[in-house]
Amino acid sequence: MPPELEEDAKYLFSTTFTDPQTIPYEGLSEAVSEAMRRQKGADLALYPPPQGHEALRELIAANLSEKRGVDTTPESIFLSSGAGGAVQTILDAFIDPGDVVLAEEFVYMGTLKQLVERGAHVVHVATDGQGMDTAALESILRSLASEGKRLKLIYSISVYQNPMGVTLSEERRERLIELSQEFGVPILENESYADFRIDGDPLPPAMIGMDGQDSVMYVSAYTKLLGCGLRLGYGVVPDEVQETLAKMSFGTSPSYLSSMAVYEFMRRHGDEHIEKVRASLKGKRDAMLRALGDHFPDGCRWSSPAGGMMLWVRLPDGADTWSVLGAALAADVKFNPGPQFRAGRDRPNYLRLTYSYNTPEEITEGVAILADLFRRKGFF
Ligand SMILES: Cc1ncc(COP(=O)(O)O)c(C=O)c1O
Repeated sequence: MPPELEEDAKYLFSTTFTDPQTIPYEGLSEAVSEAMRRQKGADLALYPPPQGHEALRELIAANLSEKRGVDTTPESIFLSSGAGGAVQTILDAFIDPGDVVLAEEFVYMGTLKQLVERGAHVVHVATDGQGMDTAALESILRSLASEGKRLKLIYSISVYQNPMGVTLSEERRERLIELSQEFGVPILENESYADFRIDGDPLPPAMIGMDGQDSVMYVSAYTKLLGCGLRLGYGVVPDEVQETLAKMSFGTSPSYLSSMAVYEFMRRHGDEHIEKVRASLKGKRDAMLRALGDHFPDGCRWSSPAGGMMLWVRLPDGADTWSVLGAALAADVKFNPGPQFRAGRDRPNYLRLTYSYNTPEEITEGVAILADLFRRKGFF
């Protein structure tokens, strides 16, 4: 992490924080007090079950069935410390140094770091408006298999991808599952942003519900919806993987108090809260799109995502976004240079701008400041 990204700033376009204007503090306070009163807090005296709060896992299974076309059971679900914790548990079980992991053209830097730390060889696959290009994936799989490489995992942030904002189409999902089965390489799909559909087409079903052969694992979280500080996520895995994870005690299970609060809150107010967050994110996304249109000239391109919390921007060739971080921080703005999302740290003319934290007014101001800095640097 560059030191410039550790400092605080007014315009925080560098992290997908929970939208602070939507934190349901009253509902969460009531949920905690309800949960504590019910058994006079007796639940807190005990260690939670290894896979975490059972009723919350039941609620997750019901939601996955209703909203993501996934037919699963609480036994297949384990709770984790955020989506990142679920990814970590799965990588701990499967990834050894030298293993090949195939992933989208740009990948959320937290997971990239987890992969690189384990010595995985991350191969980026071309990605367009329909998500990971499955024809490109097929040719990479064929060529690496013929070289005898250890193909371990296909990792896809399949919904409002971080950072590119694209959603994997249904056709490509089917093809990805076929390729996974043909080459014997499991898929790990990450749906951390599935709750944040702003507009556009309804989401295609999750891959874990489309595949009949246990080749898909799934992670998601409540982090972005209810509070990064709650750090609550989950994984869904086939039976065989469950046995492997059980031997590892499912990593570190999250705080039971967080689980109780999330359960009580989501079962009463979940859908209504999701609508509220979506409406707020719509105002923020639109403000950022407008500001980019007003201040970034022809020659720059950016995504127009139908959901999620970020825009992906391409500046003209030759622009080096790393070189502006210090000046941007001095001007109270933070963003992520494109190379943070690449195993080889290339593509410096890209950047990610998150819009979940600031208000629409602040977003408008911050983007204008950034455009001015880029112009003074001669990027455009
Ligand atoms: C795709 C993706 N996966 C995982 C994470 C980590 O999330 P959590 O805070 O739920 O661990 C993030 C956070 O930005 C993310 O965007």
